[in-house]
Amino acid sequence: MSYLSRVDEYLHAAPLSGATGQQVGPFTLFRSTTVWPYYARPVPGSTATVTVADLEKLRARCEELKLPLSLEWVVDTCPSLAPAAAEAGLEVHEYPLLVLERADFTPVTTSLDCQILTASPDVLRQARAVADTAFGTPGTAIGDGGPEARDVTAAGITDDMVAALVERAEAGVSITAGVFSNQGMLASGVHQPVGTTSEIVGVATLPAMRRQGLAAAITTRLVEHALANGVDLVLLSAESDAVAAVYERVGFHRIGRAGSAELAE
Ligand SMILES: CC(C)(COP(=O)(O)OP(=O)(O)OC[C@H]1O[C@@H](n2cnc3c(N)ncnc32)[C@H](O)[C@@H]1OP(=O)(O)O)[C@@H](O)C(=O)NCCC(=O)NCCS
Repeated sequence: MSYLSRVDEYLHAAPLSGATGQQVGPFTLFRSTTVWPYYARPVPGSTATVTVADLEKLRARCEELKLPLSLEWVVDTCPSLAPAAAEAGLEVHEYPLLVLERADFTPVTTSLDCQILTASPDVLRQARAVADTAFGTPGTAIGDGGPEARDVTAAGITDDMVAALVERAEAGVSITAGVFSNQGMLASGVHQPVGTTSEIVGVATLPAMRRQGLAAAITTRLVEHALANGVDLVLLSAESDAVAAVYERVGFHRIGRAGSAELAE
């Protein structure tokens, strides 16, 4: 099976740890069973051209179920979706899609403590706070948010969210890594194995702590964990070319593009 087909199959299976899937035309609509929303995806392997009518049907079903209309897909395996989504008035984005196999791996380490986290509520709350703080300052530049901003963010994370994170960690469907200094957690990231494939998501470094190799170290630790636990293909989609460069340093290479679409604000 080609990289793209395998990645597509993985991306169709992974949401099922937090959602149920239902068929709506050429799409599977994932309906969340947890605290964060999911999206729809085209069914892997379909060669049918996606039309604006298909998207209108999906939009109607989302309205019935009171779900936000949003889509994620592999652009290379469903090339008709981006133009149809744009024509249907959705905002379309494309991101570099990368993979790594064992032979590609070039570990990057840090002198700080970089470890796989236990399923502890306090620790997972910190990791989520690092991610929320970092994603509030997108891009790769150094910025203002440091440990204080992280702690303010942590206090605002709901107990339901923390419980959902603990549940996923205990089930082994989300494995989180964190980098620590004497100021607490500075960077975090997650991998989500399904069988022999895993995706790295949510890699994040507090804005004030960027450009010290912490994201590369987190990615390294997650890849090591995945490869040591039966995974032989790790994938991820990068926010931008600049972010993709962080992963390319660890050995990831580009295989295509990931697409996303949602209603414009
Ligand atoms: C993307 C992100 C995770 C990178 O975190 P980071 O810890 O700064 O990443 P690294 O330090 O490993 O790499 C960043 C850059 O610093 C450089 N660098 C690494 N160690 C360095 C050091 N000791 N001295 C100087 N530069 C260094 C890297 O070479 C890289 O350079 P490049 O931008 O020219 O490729 C961070 O910017 C972030 O949280 N952004 C917002 C959230 C986000 O977009 N996450 C990714 C989702 S896909």
